[in-house]
Amino acid sequence: MAVKPVLRMGEPVLYQTAAQVTAFDTPELYALIQDMQDTMAHMQGAGIAAPQIGVSLQVVMFGVGSNPRYPDAEQVPFTILINPVITPLSNEEDEGWEGCLSVPGMRGWVPRYTHIRYQGKDPQGAVIDRTVSGFHARVVQHECDHLFGILYPMRIRDLTKFGFNEVLFPGITLPDD
Ligand code: NI
Repeated sequence: MAVKPVLRMGEPVLYQTAAQVTAFDTPELYALIQDMQDTMAHMQGAGIAAPQIGVSLQVVMFGVGSNPRYPDAEQVPFTILINPVITPLSNEEDEGWEGCLSVPGMRGWVPRYTHIRYQGKDPQGAVIDRTVSGFHARVVQHECDHLFGILYPMRIRDLTKFGFNEVLFPGITLPDD
């Protein structure tokens, strides 16, 4: 278990489709999850995907407690999600500011589906199947994009709404999440 370096935008592995996990409840899987959890906690991130620490497997984790960085956001339960499938439940979208550990110091205004169903497995191989909306849906879509080679700047429609934290939000200290 260890805090790993987070790969930044430009690294080829971040643009690859990650492989599905085929063996659950294994020491290797738990070691990866521990590294991801340690790294996410160290960086105070809202989520992390395995490719961000250089492992091209379909594993993400996310969770947001009551957090001064997201004063208006609903809480998102800590979840480890493997081999995810996202199904939009309507064409409705919201736009909102996002950051990413792989794009440090920046924020962008990103459209996401408002209502989604997501399915996948937990580390033991048990089924996860949830219907969520709003901020929870945004976090899941951001993290799962990492498994398919997509970083949030690739989703921005108006690139005038992509910039440095201290320019966009002067006087506010934002983490690199
Ligand atoms: Ni990210």
